[in-house]
Amino acid sequence: MQNTGSRAGEHLDSLDIYSSYRRSRYLSLKHVSYFQVYEELLSRYRNRKCTFVEVGVSNGGSLFMWRDFLGPEARVIGIDLNPLAKKWSEAGFEIHIGDQADPRFWENFFSVVGDVDVVVDDGGHTNEQQIVTAHCCIPHIRDGGMLIVEDTHASYLRLFGNPSRYSFMNYAKRTIDRINARFPGLHGADDAWEKCVHSMRVYESIVCFNVDRERCFVNSPTSNDGISSDARDFRYEGAGAGRLLRLRNVLRKRFGFLARIPALRAAGRYLFQSVLRLHVRLRQRGLKKYF
Ligand SMILES: C[S@@+](CC[C@H](N)C(=O)[O-])C[C@H]1O[C@@H](n2cnc3c(N)ncnc32)[C@H](O)[C@@H]1O
Repeated sequence: MQNTGSRAGEHLDSLDIYSSYRRSRYLSLKHVSYFQVYEELLSRYRNRKCTFVEVGVSNGGSLFMWRDFLGPEARVIGIDLNPLAKKWSEAGFEIHIGDQADPRFWENFFSVVGDVDVVVDDGGHTNEQQIVTAHCCIPHIRDGGMLIVEDTHASYLRLFGNPSRYSFMNYAKRTIDRINARFPGLHGADDAWEKCVHSMRVYESIVCFNVDRERCFVNSPTSNDGISSDARDFRYEGAGAGRLLRLRNVLRKRFGFLARIPALRAAGRYLFQSVLRLHVRLRQRGLKKYF
C-alpha cells in the first residue's frame, strides 16, 4: 500500500475500489477518504449494465479505475474541457469534450448519450461548474441513480471565490430545504429538479444526490389504528410553558362561559397561541450556543 501518511489510509487495502485504483496504469490523484465513500455508494452498480459519467478526465487514471471496479457491462463516459482527453476513446471510453459550466454543452451531451445512472463531478470544482453541472445533470439521471460531487471543500477555499452566498455547499444546503418542502403545507416542490432528488448524503468533501422520482411524493399522515390511551402531548410542558398552560386552564374555568361567543373564543385562542409562540421564540435564544 502507498504510504498515505496517516491512520486514515490503513483500511484502504480492504477496499475493492482502492485495488482498482492501484491497478490503473495511469495517474489519478485522490484523497484517501474518498475510496470508502465510493465503495459504499457504487458497489451496487458492479457487474451490471449502467451508464457511468465522470466529469474530469485529466490523465485518464480514474477512467480505468471505474471500469475495473464496475466491470465490463458498465458504459464509462468521460468529459473534459481539454481536447487531449479525446485520446482515451482509443482505450474504449466514450469521451466528450466541453465545458461543464455551459448548459448548452449538457443539452447536447444528453441528446447524444441519453439518460444515465451515475455522474461523478471531478472537474474544475468552481461554484459555477459544480452548480450548473448539478442543475443540468440531475433531470437526466435515472431513478435509483446519483450525482456525486467530489472536492466540495472548494466551497470553503478563497482560491475558488469562497466563502460566497453562491457556493456549491450553500446550493447543497438549499437542496435540504427543497427536500423538506415536500412536506404538506410547506411551500411544496415547484420545479422538475425538486421532484427528482429524493435524498442526499454528505461526507467530508463529497456530496451525493440520490435521484428517485417515485419516492419524491408529497407526504401524508397515516395511522396503525392501534389502541389509544388519549395520552396528552407534553410538548410544551418540558419547555417551561407549563405555567402558561396552567394559567390558561384557570382562565378557562373562571371565564369559560365567554367561549360560547365564537368571536371571543377565536380571540382567546389567537391570544394564547401568540403568547405561546413568543415564549418559544424567547426560549430559542438559548439555542445560540449550539450554532
Ligand atoms: C481533478 S482533474 C480530474 C482527475 C481525474 N478525475 C482523476 O481522478 O484522475 C480535473 C479535470 O477537470 C477538467 N476540467 C476543468 N474545468 C473543466 C470544465 N469547465 N469542464 C470540463 N472539464 C473541466 C480539467 O481539464 C481536468 O482534467
